[in-house]
Amino acid sequence: MSEADPVFDFEELELDTSWAFEGADTKYLTHDIHRYPAKFIPQLARRIIEEYSGKGEVVLDPFCGSGTALLEARLTGRNAIGVDLNPVAYYVSKVKTNPIEPRSLKRQWERFSQKLSPIFGFNKVPPYQLPEKALEVLSAWIPERQLEDMRRLFTLINEVEDESFRDFLLVAFSNIQKNCSWWLMKSVKPTRNFKKKVPEVIPTFTRQVERMRKKNDQLWERLEGSETWVKVYKADTRELSSVVSDEVDLILFSPPYVTSYEYIDVHKLSVVWLEQTKELRELKKHFIGSASAKPKDVEIRSGTAERIAAKLDRKDKRLARAVRTYFADMQLSFEEMDRVLKTGGVVAIVIGNTKLKGVEIKNAEVFAEMFTDMGYSLERVVKRPIPGKNLPTTRDPKTGKFTSAKNGHVKVYPHEFILFLRKA
Ligand SMILES: C[S@@+](CC[C@H](N)C(=O)[O-])C[C@H]1O[C@@H](n2cnc3c(N)ncnc32)[C@H](O)[C@@H]1O
Repeated sequence: MSEADPVFDFEELELDTSWAFEGADTKYLTHDIHRYPAKFIPQLARRIIEEYSGKGEVVLDPFCGSGTALLEARLTGRNAIGVDLNPVAYYVSKVKTNPIEPRSLKRQWERFSQKLSPIFGFNKVPPYQLPEKALEVLSAWIPERQLEDMRRLFTLINEVEDESFRDFLLVAFSNIQKNCSWWLMKSVKPTRNFKKKVPEVIPTFTRQVERMRKKNDQLWERLEGSETWVKVYKADTRELSSVVSDEVDLILFSPPYVTSYEYIDVHKLSVVWLEQTKELRELKKHFIGSASAKPKDVEIRSGTAERIAAKLDRKDKRLARAVRTYFADMQLSFEEMDRVLKTGGVVAIVIGNTKLKGVEIKNAEVFAEMFTDMGYSLERVVKRPIPGKNLPTTRDPKTGKFTSAKNGHVKVYPHEFILFLRKA
């Protein structure tokens, strides 16, 4: 047990290698139906769920991303609620955790896939009418022939009446966006590679559906007889209590980080299709940690956060403002989490500290202070080594952004923390 002391030095803790899960299979069942950055290791989420909740209880991931914790909750006999603002996260989480009855899926897919053949008139399907500006964005990324096929395919998907099957197809469609465009596959940021040989849409889509179908069927079998449920909401965590009406037993999440990923950029093409907008800049403003997030007029209740921002102020005022905004947004989210968590329930946060312009961004300390200020007790802190491939481990020293290149860049996440905070 660790003391809930604001000057408690997290970095001094011993590493607990039993939480590393080095080499663990992270792709079983539906876990890898769609790419998503900074995913949980499923085994890590499972261990937290099993240690801090009981069967039949409700687990909430308020930044659910691709739904890793939600699936692990179901697999261990819990119910789960996921919230995320990213439309990609919303569809992936829904499809990942709610398998379709295999024979019904097979039947629906057989009927649907016939329409993808030129013999059955695929070339006569009207291309989906996206708003002109949205189409402009897509045209800059997707070769003409592929874009035509995608628009026809999107028309057919939108004609599907069964919601579960339509969502299933949308996830498959979303996951082929990077393959079937000039997107430089190894890049997290949107980067075009005009030398890329862009594959054909329909065979790529068909392979993706077949892969997902196999995983869907396996999950269906695993969940047979289970009475658990998963609900997913596309919503802002700072307004969590207006969408989540269930009382929650355990909250488990890994938050966005300040000025690291722009989740809207990471999924740029999918977001344009799913939201039918080119106003990505407008969407970004609502994402916590985004460089476009709007400053908040909120008193930050953490001395550590104030000290970090003051230090940064002397180096880079813009960055200092971004960090203040980030902490204010996280605090607003925590207040909302508190509204839905039952008394005696636990909040488990998986979080690493980072460094920007030479200033330590002590996220773990700040979050612990914010929760203890709300009357929670810091019951336990685990310091776990990060095996490496699940989170970006290097930052560009100038911009502070995550990068995959190694030269001259600093390792930022040799370890991370798991905070366990109990509501009094
Ligand atoms: C580190 S990721 C979570 C990944 C997740 N644990 C998984 O296994 O896939 C953080 C998530 O926070 C989401 N996010 C950022 N700002 C948000 C907001 N205001 N409301 C809800 N979700 C938000 C992002 O879309 C992203 O999916």
